[in-house]
Amino acid sequence: MRKVVSLSICVIMLIAALVYFTQAQQLGDKAQLGRELFHDPTFKGTISPKVATGLSCADCHADFDEAAKPDGLIRAGHSMIGVPQRGSAKGGMISGANFARAAGGGGFCYEHFLQKVRPDKVNPTAIPAEHAEALMAYFEAISGDNKGPEFKMEMLDDDAKTAAGEKIAVMPGDAEKGWKLFGRACVVCHPTAKKSGIGIRIVGTRLPRDIDKTVVRWAKTIRGGGSTLMPFYASDILSDQDIADIVTFLREQLESSAR
Ligand code: HEC
Ligand code: HEC
Repeated sequence: MRKVVSLSICVIMLIAALVYFTQAQQLGDKAQLGRELFHDPTFKGTISPKVATGLSCADCHADFDEAAKPDGLIRAGHSMIGVPQRGSAKGGMISGANFARAAGGGGFCYEHFLQKVRPDKVNPTAIPAEHAEALMAYFEAISGDNKGPEFKMEMLDDDAKTAAGEKIAVMPGDAEKGWKLFGRACVVCHPTAKKSGIGIRIVGTRLPRDIDKTVVRWAKTIRGGGSTLMPFYASDILSDQDIADIVTFLREQLESSAR
């Protein structure tokens, strides 16, 4: 009996290994490298440990069709499905021959989010050519004919970010919904509202002098992004109401624990 069981385990493992290897082969070596880079915060050890943030592409982008097969997470960036067909990124700032060289815009994220290069110092084509090619090969392999999500890139200036923050901060919100959204979107970097990770501790131990002003700053940061690694959340990813729910949750955390 035991022999039969271990034999069937062997057969199952053999089949699993075969399926795995044929899938990897179907992907092609270049695309397979792209897939591995996509999930690796060290970029296969090529990023210096002195500057690595610990973030990988997969922390902020899906490599599958999120609308068709949602996994519950809310990622700051859009899915990589359809990237090769977009032809330009960053609201047209990356286009032409630079588009493929910058891995469809991923070259910006590679420097800014994986290595904390300041946005005004980022060179989106500084990513090694071999890595940009591998990522694009992977994006092509996972996309096929799927054009991916349709979205309009909103590039908000500072005034627009402040206006958005002010508008959202006075909207009524639901703290319980906010907590659920926080779990799906923010814990990658903020383990809880009161614990720091890659992101800072949001809710401190002292009440700020003007809590309404703090809430405006929070809403502005979520919609518009922060000064370093805090990504912006476009309105097709988090609606104004979603952000209102989140800041209501954060405010409740602050008011119930700080003095
Ligand atoms: C901290 C979050 C974060 C990380 C990490 C990150 N990105 Fe991004 N990325 C964004 C945001 C936010 C945008 C702008 C919104 C969008 O276009 O999806 C963006 C934009 C992009 C775009 C352009 C999409 C478009 O058509 O406008 C590509 C391509 C991309 N990222 C690829 C990558 C790759 C490849 C990596 C890893 C090297 C990576 N990103 C890492 C957040 C991130
Ligand atoms: C990729 C990592 C990352 C993700 C994901 C992220 N944050 Fe942040 N967040 C940061 C970092 C780093 C800072 C501080 C530096 C900065 O502004 O960039 C920050 C700052 C903030 C601040 C500003 C706090 C203050 O006192 O001004 C708020 C509010 C905030 N994050 C909320 C959120 C919420 C809500 C989410 C989810 C919707 C989220 N963050 C997702 C990294 C992240």
